[in-house]
Amino acid sequence: MDDRLKEASAYYDGVVRETSNLAVTVGRGEDDLEKSEFIWQDIKSKLRFERAGRVLDIGCGYGEVTKLLLRHATDLELKVQLVDVPGVIDAIAENFSALLPPDAKLVPGLFPHDFADLIASGETFDYIIVYSVVHCSDEPRRIVDAAAKLLAPGGKLLVGDLPNIDKKGRFLSTEFGRRFEADYRGLPVDEVPSYSDYRDYVSRGLRQEENRVICDEFVFKLLEDYRSQGFDAFVLDQDERLPFSFTREDLLLIRGL
Ligand SMILES: C[S@@+](CC[C@H](N)C(=O)[O-])C[C@H]1O[C@@H](n2cnc3c(N)ncnc32)[C@H](O)[C@@H]1O
Repeated sequence: MDDRLKEASAYYDGVVRETSNLAVTVGRGEDDLEKSEFIWQDIKSKLRFERAGRVLDIGCGYGEVTKLLLRHATDLELKVQLVDVPGVIDAIAENFSALLPPDAKLVPGLFPHDFADLIASGETFDYIIVYSVVHCSDEPRRIVDAAAKLLAPGGKLLVGDLPNIDKKGRFLSTEFGRRFEADYRGLPVDEVPSYSDYRDYVSRGLRQEENRVICDEFVFKLLEDYRSQGFDAFVLDQDERLPFSFTREDLLLIRGL
């Protein structure tokens, strides 16, 4: 397992015991809680859930979006399987029990490392959500590829909330982006670096600890590889009301029927 994933899983395993703010428990800001409904609506509009089916949520998180999925699962005729680290799964079992449909399954573990049996079993899912997760690993492609193998014919995989470093660079090299960043960090604008273009940001950006594997090349390669394997593959933007919509994007993969 890579170091980034080790660190992230230890962090999320513990944070659920340290705060009751269900935005902070999933890595968002304290004030982002009310935006969870927009995130859920955005996910729903991208996956559409036209048909009843099985949903696998990998890295579901102990947060409001999981609550919303559980709350709507029965109406949408979705049979839900949630995957996350043990602390997160325990917190869901303990605190969301009233929302859990009787056929929901909670599975602790790190994907794909602890899921060899599931992957080998031939079990498939109609909808797979991997939202705000793959940047927790230095091997994001491994997660996407393993998840795509679990798609049923016609099944949809949403790899959401990708912090594409080139997209962030494009945003921060605009004047609007610079002002937004200053406001977000509580800094005067002249303390936020000015970038000539996205390449300039990528080479000397503010946050060097970001996962630099997630970039245009990563996204384009996924589109190319999956389309050449017969999938439909799309890059989708986010509703502006989402917490990081200016710097993140989503990828939707659909297996052919
Ligand atoms: C940023 S939070 C996002 C949670 C939720 N998907 C959301 O968007 O509200 C990331 C979650 O993914 C989990 N996670 C990260 N990598 C994972 C992996 N490889 N397998 C299972 N869970 C993972 C973390 O434990 C954490 O709960």
